[in-house]
Amino acid sequence: MRIAVIGSGYVGLVSGTCFAQMGNKVTCVDVDEQKITSLKQGIIPIYEPGLEQMVVDNQKKGSLLFSTDIEQAILNAQVVFVAVGTPMSDDGSADLQYVLAVAKSIGQYMLGDMIIVDKSTVPVGTADKVKITIQAELDKRIKHTVDEKLKATLQQLNFDVVSNPEFLKEGAALDDFMKPDRVIIGAESERAVQVMRNLYAPFMKSHDRFIKMDLRSAEMTKYAANAMLATKISFMNEISNICERVGADVNKVRDGIGSDTRIGYSFIYPGCGYGGSCFPKDVQALVKTAKDFDYVPRILDAVEAVNYAQKSVIANKIIKRFGENLDGKTFAVWGLAFKPETDDMREASSTTIINELTSKGAKIVAYDPKAQHEAKTFYLKGNKNVTYAAAKYAALPQADALILITEWQEFRSPDFDEIKKLLKAPVFFDGRNQFEKQRMQDMGFEYFQIGVKD
Ligand code: NAI
Repeated sequence: MRIAVIGSGYVGLVSGTCFAQMGNKVTCVDVDEQKITSLKQGIIPIYEPGLEQMVVDNQKKGSLLFSTDIEQAILNAQVVFVAVGTPMSDDGSADLQYVLAVAKSIGQYMLGDMIIVDKSTVPVGTADKVKITIQAELDKRIKHTVDEKLKATLQQLNFDVVSNPEFLKEGAALDDFMKPDRVIIGAESERAVQVMRNLYAPFMKSHDRFIKMDLRSAEMTKYAANAMLATKISFMNEISNICERVGADVNKVRDGIGSDTRIGYSFIYPGCGYGGSCFPKDVQALVKTAKDFDYVPRILDAVEAVNYAQKSVIANKIIKRFGENLDGKTFAVWGLAFKPETDDMREASSTTIINELTSKGAKIVAYDPKAQHEAKTFYLKGNKNVTYAAAKYAALPQADALILITEWQEFRSPDFDEIKKLLKAPVFFDGRNQFEKQRMQDMGFEYFQIGVKD
């Protein structure tokens, strides 16, 4: 099939590459010229394990092209995926300007029947807006063209708008896309369903994971899934805060409740609060949608409030230990990305923690295996109290304490003797509960965790 993917970020690039890998002819488009230039040279602007090789291989085969020419990509495509960003607006709603700009371009350029697939996370009702936008552009073209043949072609055009939300996880994106738990398709016509079924069939060799529904339910499914996961995290963070106060150990409580299959072990790890490009904005967008429809979503409001507060828990422990004035104190930070195996810093808890500490005079020496460039260039740019180390132990010399924020694998079994030797004093704030408290104390660490009494 000939596919255009508009928006070549995490989702667009992974989707386009995986469709190319399955034998489709894919053009990935972006307005960011620098991104497209790099991609053409096989340089991937994001860190995603395995992606670079797959991009290069498919480029060589000619099944994957990169372009800034949206018109040409639309003209050549049978299916167009919209994978542009839907960032949060000031009022919490999803900003649809990029999605609707693409819809407008589709209406301006299409010349053949086509399926338009919303892959971006978009509020309920967006597929209708996309359809209206495309049709309005088509109508304008029909009205203004003097070419009777073109007018007839445009009048006979058929297009379907499909909702196909994406569930990939950054850091495991290729695997998630190649072996999806489910493929959600919201569509109005059987023709569109069939095309999507054919497109995804190669990804479902073992059993059918294709779930077909109406457009609005498909759009809602994505928000419900992210809201559920965010709720599990905030719930467990709240339990951890109670544990800490009553003298219980959240790590043991987690084992105790996770063994119940109705609860399960995933997403019940307490930490520094969720971040990333999806949960924060998607929970807030769902809250806004609910309120727009005169419903007050009490659970979702609480999920957000707990998460906001959770991002300060580690900084508060540090302030409790070292005092309100952190002038002259230096802290080593391990991990900046919002989670391991990605360089994504969007809404990362590290930013909140570091800014809180530096606002009280502290200096930070940070190390992250992949996200340092993002941090330096965007998220912590201008924070003069932050410097970066080239390796994990290089962040430690003369620091008053080590703070672990992102649980990258290389932090899982560090050389504790080396840490003790390099730090001014063996003080360790663990925002991801990676180690056993007793063991750490036996090794001589003053060790702070989430959800365990200090
Ligand atoms: P991103 O910010 O990494 O990429 C979006 C890309 O779209 C950018 O490269 C931007 O330059 C491009 N773009 C914007 N307007 C354009 C236009 N008119 N024409 C062509 N390109 C244009 O965003 P990401 O993370 O890939 O997310 C995309 C959507 O997928 C969002 O709605 C997000 O919520 C959703 N999503 C993201 C996941 C993730 O893990 N990042 C997972 C599942 C869904």
